[in-house]
Amino acid sequence: MKALIFGASGQVGRALVATAPERMEVVALGRADCDVTDRNAVTAAIRAARPDLVFNAAAYTAVDKAESEPDRAGMLNAAAPGWIASAARDAGARFVHISTDFVFGGTSGRPYRPDHPTRPLSVYGRTKRDGETAVLDADPDALIVRTAWVHDAAGSNFVRTMLRLMAERDRLDIVADQLGTPTHAPSLARALLALAAKSASGLHHFTDAGVASWYDFAVAIQEEALALGLLERASVIAPIVTADYPTPATRPGCVILDKSATWALLDRPPPHWRATLRTCLNEIARQKVAKNG
Ligand SMILES: NC(=O)c1ccc[n+]([C@@H]2O[C@H](COP(=O)([O-])OP(=O)(O)OC[C@H]3O[C@@H](n4cnc5c(N)ncnc54)[C@H](OP(=O)(O)O)[C@@H]3O)[C@@H](O)[C@H]2O)c1
Repeated sequence: MKALIFGASGQVGRALVATAPERMEVVALGRADCDVTDRNAVTAAIRAARPDLVFNAAAYTAVDKAESEPDRAGMLNAAAPGWIASAARDAGARFVHISTDFVFGGTSGRPYRPDHPTRPLSVYGRTKRDGETAVLDADPDALIVRTAWVHDAAGSNFVRTMLRLMAERDRLDIVADQLGTPTHAPSLARALLALAAKSASGLHHFTDAGVASWYDFAVAIQEEALALGLLERASVIAPIVTADYPTPATRPGCVILDKSATWALLDRPPPHWRATLRTCLNEIARQKVAKNG
């Protein structure tokens, strides 16, 4: 089995490379190796690698910046996935694409099933939704997995931002009325690989287990980080409402993805987000020790 990974330098791309089973030959292409907005380069990369599986972990993920760069976001999140799906199909490879909870509006009041109508509120959400459509138009057998609130020990994410701000500031105001599920990139990578191995297709949802607000997530990060010695003292963490923290992109209020169909396909449900947060922070602590000798 040979897998080709686009966007291999991002959080999810790196986790896919690290998690792939030993028997799987992996061709990992970061942005410098293949710009996915270059359709010819994408087709050439797939033809050259002759993979059985193609993963697309490349994306425009700067949610606020996307509001002022809709064309660039659309190229990366909507056009490119369609081109990759089409080239993978032509090469006889299965295609796995990653999408987001931001395709939903966040006001339904109950968990979102994969077939729930989409209602993106931002350029990022709209372009990701258009990417889903482009992928399924090019290859109806493609697998698309929507996820949320991804973090790992090295990426640009909420966990690392909080650690930095908590070290710098005595007080942090954190939004408490947006709910979702923090998801460790390696959990997602394991699920993507397992779903691909089962030849799953169509729209699926995957996150770690449980629910949190950004405020809950920040409080947990601080508690775990203090216990691990990653922080020297506690900051005051104050809950605020979204209206008090305006951002260029509108975010959905409450998107809990209904994962029941996906979890039924996996051998076991994923761990609770609090457990995978601890794993992530342990990794950050190990890296810090290694760096400081
Ligand atoms: N992060 C989240 O909270 C979250 C939540 C829901 C869904 N997702 C989805 O999960 C997937 C992976 O996201 P992530 O968290 O791993 O994001 P990430 O860490 O930002 O990784 C995205 C990768 O795409 C690469 N990329 C950007 N432009 C490219 C181009 N033109 N050609 C090739 N590669 C390019 C980036 O390269 P550079 O490093 O060089 O910029 C980066 O390595 C995305 O589809 C995202 O929409 C993420």
